[in-house]
Amino acid sequence: MVKKIAVLVSGGGSNLQSIIDNMDTMNGEVTLVVSNRKNAYGLQRAMDANIEAVHISKDDQALIALLQEREIDLVVLAGYLAILSDEFISAFPNRIINIHPSLIPSFCGHGAYGIHVHEMALQRGVKVTGATVHFVSEVVDGGPIIIQEVCQIGDLKYASDIQERVLEIEHRILPKAIKLFCEDKLKVHQERVTIL
Ligand code: GAR
Repeated sequence: MVKKIAVLVSGGGSNLQSIIDNMDTMNGEVTLVVSNRKNAYGLQRAMDANIEAVHISKDDQALIALLQEREIDLVVLAGYLAILSDEFISAFPNRIINIHPSLIPSFCGHGAYGIHVHEMALQRGVKVTGATVHFVSEVVDGGPIIIQEVCQIGDLKYASDIQERVLEIEHRILPKAIKLFCEDKLKVHQERVTIL
């Protein structure tokens, strides 16, 4: 059975675009895009791809109801910059995937999102950074890790340059993780993910 995927976005939606562009390689289809921000460009990207696009601002119950009504198998957080309620998370156990722009457990948790993550990495002077795809649990950025990929920071001087380098990784590993999920190849046991 082809899996039905909902993607939640708050902003530009370049990760959403990478999923849409790789959809023909997956046993899954993005059937719904939801944003908590009305003007998120991600909603436009969805409409351009003939995908249902919905704006729901902070109302997790309405969101749960919509996702259940649409019989969504997998929820992907692709730059969704709102914290989901425990009720939401327990409605989709090990069926929510998030992309985070650092090597978790570095530079994650409350307040670590978007460009701020790269500012933190620059400030700390780390030599490498990267991106992480993980399942979402009740602990912010604390769920089982699916894929991580590293890149060098080298002599990059601006957070925006690091962001660009990390986004290249994100656009590769997020579709890859979704593809694995859709093929039932991700097994979670004791907080660890095994790729079958
Ligand atoms: C991405 O870098 C994503 O990893 C990050 O927001 C950006 C969204 O970009 N997410 C977080 O920081 C979550 N804590 P996009 O809208 O172009 O996909």
